[in-house]
Amino acid sequence: MTTSAIKPTTDSVSGLLQDIAIIGRDKTRGGYSRPVFSTAETDLRDWFLEQAGRRGLDVRTDRNGIIWAWWDTSARTRRDAVVTGSHLDSVPGGGEYDGPLGVASALVAVDILKARGLRPRRPLAIAVFPEEEGSRFGVACLGSRLLTGELDPDKARRLQDQDGNTFADVAVANGQDPRFIGADYKTLQQLGVFVELHVEQGRGLVDLNQPVAIGSSILGHGRWKLSISGQGNHAGTTLMADRKDPMIAAAKIMVSIRDTARKYRDARATVGRLQPVPGGTNVIASRVDLWIDVRHPDDSVTAALIEAIRLNAQVTASEEGCRSSLTMESLSPTVHFDGGLRDRLKELLPGAPVLDTGAGHDAGVLSSHIPTAMLFVRNPTGISHSPDELVEDWDAEAGAMALADSLAGLLGGPPAGPPAGPPAGSRSSG
Ligand code: GLV
Ligand code: MN
Ligand code: MN
Repeated sequence: MTTSAIKPTTDSVSGLLQDIAIIGRDKTRGGYSRPVFSTAETDLRDWFLEQAGRRGLDVRTDRNGIIWAWWDTSARTRRDAVVTGSHLDSVPGGGEYDGPLGVASALVAVDILKARGLRPRRPLAIAVFPEEEGSRFGVACLGSRLLTGELDPDKARRLQDQDGNTFADVAVANGQDPRFIGADYKTLQQLGVFVELHVEQGRGLVDLNQPVAIGSSILGHGRWKLSISGQGNHAGTTLMADRKDPMIAAAKIMVSIRDTARKYRDARATVGRLQPVPGGTNVIASRVDLWIDVRHPDDSVTAALIEAIRLNAQVTASEEGCRSSLTMESLSPTVHFDGGLRDRLKELLPGAPVLDTGAGHDAGVLSSHIPTAMLFVRNPTGISHSPDELVEDWDAEAGAMALADSLAGLLGGPPAGPPAGPPAGSRSSG
């Protein structure tokens, strides 16, 4: 799809999201599938470039594929930019708001600040980070990890998608030169603070009956791949007693992962993806790969839990005549957002509650390098990474207003405008 097919901007968050609502719909899974470098994701990036251009922002895409849209280009040599933004890629069959809400809200916040006649004393930029979900190449927050030097570019170039295409090859096919990915301290040092607005991925704001919250921390989390090897064979000719079936081992291991995680207070462990090889109805698999997502506020507990899972998998696999091996794909320690920035946002958004989150974000990766903060917008279903994720239109506009007020305060412009409320004519996105 070309951007010319997209309706004009309506200058509301819900209007912008409506403009892109047809992009990347997944007819099989429901919801949206917008993996990095897919047609859907590149269409969304084109849409953002067009929207930023319409607002007179100076746009460039850096060598890690991060899009930067600058309000004040003359200030590029300064080191105190206020940056907001989020991502446009999605998990398979994801919701409409995870990522795009933060991008659309950033565009509307710029509109609000311009309408207020704000003359920023610091540069302002909107950033769009690629592969935040890690849905295609397995490493979440790939763009921000490359920018900050937290991911080895060689490792990134070798990452493979489910079809065996390397990141390097897919990047080339999409006009990006993978030789130049990696730490970009020149860009990083221009950034003063980063504020990411995001749909809340739980029920905190519903329970508090509030539209917008300030983020306090992100639960530490990591991803591991467990491969269980057995003996591929014929489903009809192999007696039950003679099998070395890794699917059986995988089934037992998955139940034990759930049971082990339950022994650790506040732990979460999930197997959301499982791939039998070769994957035929009348074939006993020769190997099963499964991916484990583990989260806990205490990083040493995450380490203990994954070790318990590893040992248990070894024993269970060998009981089934199979072997197992575990590899870490990514690890993000628990993040506590900058206290000073959080206090400043509390002053700028009086009455907004402070909430933590179990979900990972580029703001978490950036937080070891610059002060970062997050704003969460109420999600009435409390569900995310699912088509059931929801934001009501009036909450989306309240979120953009809260973001504009936060940015105005950080940019050193005039005081915030009137408190946010439902705009006239707003409607539920249903
Ligand atoms: C990203 O949304 C994550 O928490 O995995
Ligand atoms: Mn997200
Ligand atoms: Mn997500």
